[in-house]
Amino acid sequence: MNKAVNPVAKLSGEILPPPDKSISHRSAMFAAISSEDSIIQNYSPAADPQSTLECLKQLGVEVQKENSTVKISGVGRDGFQNPDEPLDCGNSGTTMRLLSGIVAGAGVECSMIGDESLSSRTMKRVIAPLQKMGCKIDGRDGVYAPLNIHSHQGVKAIRFPLPIASAQLKSCVLLAGLFGEEPTAVIENVLSRDHTERLLELDSEPYGSGKIIRSSRDHVIPSQNYSVPGDFSAAAFWLVAGAIHENAEIHLKGTGVNPSRDAVYYILEEMGASFKKTNNKLEGREPVSDLYVESSELKPLHLDPALIPNCIDELPILMVAMCFAEGKSVITGAEELRHKETDRLAAMAEILNLAGADIELKKDGIVIEGKRDFKPKAATYPTYHDHRMAMAAAVLATKGTDSSTITHADCTAISYPNFWNHLQTLSDSVI
Ligand code: S3P
Repeated sequence: MNKAVNPVAKLSGEILPPPDKSISHRSAMFAAISSEDSIIQNYSPAADPQSTLECLKQLGVEVQKENSTVKISGVGRDGFQNPDEPLDCGNSGTTMRLLSGIVAGAGVECSMIGDESLSSRTMKRVIAPLQKMGCKIDGRDGVYAPLNIHSHQGVKAIRFPLPIASAQLKSCVLLAGLFGEEPTAVIENVLSRDHTERLLELDSEPYGSGKIIRSSRDHVIPSQNYSVPGDFSAAAFWLVAGAIHENAEIHLKGTGVNPSRDAVYYILEEMGASFKKTNNKLEGREPVSDLYVESSELKPLHLDPALIPNCIDELPILMVAMCFAEGKSVITGAEELRHKETDRLAAMAEILNLAGADIELKKDGIVIEGKRDFKPKAATYPTYHDHRMAMAAAVLATKGTDSSTITHADCTAISYPNFWNHLQTLSDSVI
């Protein structure tokens, strides 16, 4: 499905961002390995977290859904059944990388498959440490899905300094560590999102410039009874849309503001964005706030590479913001973007070039010469079936000279099924 996006004269209103994708996945997986029942409210209806629920059902976990409430009867660490069919993770890297830690740790006989995009993303980063832990896991060419997992005796504890700042890799090793008699220790020098540590209530302590986190069979897995916060990464599209439009005022209710995820809020503030944060509270083990953004005059910024793991999913929309900040903005150290649902550095460069932005693509980043009065050219934007490319291109197109087309626009359903409705709700069309 292609979608026409018209330039808009005004963006205003109040929306509830979709339930957080990262927290939804984890709430369901952790509820499954706990020995109690959990009731998770506001579970994400998006395709990726739904893939996680389907995989858990195949593993013999009872999952009852009523609207956005999901009841999961925990089977404990040793209660999984070997599934008859491969576990289909769809487009979801989080499902494959986190769940592989659980099924490999538990020694479930199974295979894990994904769509074309997921099957081309490296799984070597999880296969290697899991093999070190004594798990019987391998992939196609030792690197890609399908992953094949076999039963084995016990899990060897490892001490694992993370070779890349990745919450998915950190979580995979910690989850497998839950099946070992001795504690597995993961050392993180550059901090990535910490939902796994929070929601599992794992022990962690400062270590060097980062922290050390431990998991073992002794750890009691808490039940997961809370309402999933709104997705900060989805809200970020509106934070930028509000900031770059001359006539904008957007309220984002109940948005997750986990400090390991919210760097782009402060980056945009430093660029001059006018934001407010109110109604700060805790929802379960995660902080939540209402966010407000209005029209702003943005300044350029050289992004500190140390912040990248904290805003990895927001970098595409941050690039859009940089196009409207007068002067030179620079992103470096973002090579990891090339390993997402698509090569997001190359894809964003193509989108921004089509819009007529002044950019230079680098191996690990991008240089953007922004203009306050930048008028993106009307274009047919490719998305490579990547939800974040589609949403970034749509926000860009709302500032366009004429109607643009977003290809494969239905891919927003991966994380934000209501995106197009929300755009409609907030927009006052020019044409
Ligand atoms: C995620 C972690 C990030 C992020 C992804 C979700 C998670 O990936 O890009 O969308 O839920 O743990 P990496 O940790 O591999 O960078």
